[in-house]
Amino acid sequence: MKKIVVGISGASGMPLAIHLLKELKANPNVETHLVLTKGAEMTILQETKISIEDVYSLADVVYDNHNIGASIASGTFQVDGMIVIPCSMKTVAGIAHGYSDNLLLRACDVMIKEQRKLILVTRESPLSSIHLDNLAYLSKIHTVMIMPPMLTYYNLPESIEDMERHLIGKVLSQFDIEINNFKRWK
Ligand SMILES: Cc1cc2nc3c(=O)[nH]c(=O)nc-3n(C[C@H](O)[C@H](O)[C@H](O)COP(=O)(O)O)c2cc1C
Repeated sequence: MKKIVVGISGASGMPLAIHLLKELKANPNVETHLVLTKGAEMTILQETKISIEDVYSLADVVYDNHNIGASIASGTFQVDGMIVIPCSMKTVAGIAHGYSDNLLLRACDVMIKEQRKLILVTRESPLSSIHLDNLAYLSKIHTVMIMPPMLTYYNLPESIEDMERHLIGKVLSQFDIEINNFKRWK
């Protein structure tokens, strides 16, 4: 059984987070640990028709972002890694500078100090030099991967959902998790 921590922060792209959680829920070999920021809750209400409770129901364990004493705040709690999707520039700044004033940020800090995989689906446009400096800094940590939700066309998508599936497939490939209808380049 793989254990994956999913963090959702307040950047645009909530359908991506929901798509990812649905894929993980459908996989009997994955246990999902979820933490959302306040900004994420606001953005979910803005960008989707799903309630926060319905998002919670897609995970096996849900944490209060204020509870910095939760299990995922400790390196002794073993997980395979963490995905922050979508990842705001404020959360990027917090991770890059070790400023762990909420559980999501602390869990990222733990991934880095324990050298576990941390995938950041970072989303902002345009990117300022502050954003780019923080991202470049994080990209030098070998267990951190910056994976912005870029549009892809080589897989011949016919819908936004096809594009989302491609991105989610790429993210989950990092944990050797396969999803249906993920078109790999041949
Ligand atoms: C609808 C909406 C969309 C947003 N989109 C982005 C975004 O794409 N990228 C970003 O860095 N911040 C975005 N923000 C701003 C963040 O939510 C804000 O900076 C917040 O403080 C992030 O905190 P968090 O990372 O703890 O969730 C958005 C806010 C709202 C309300």
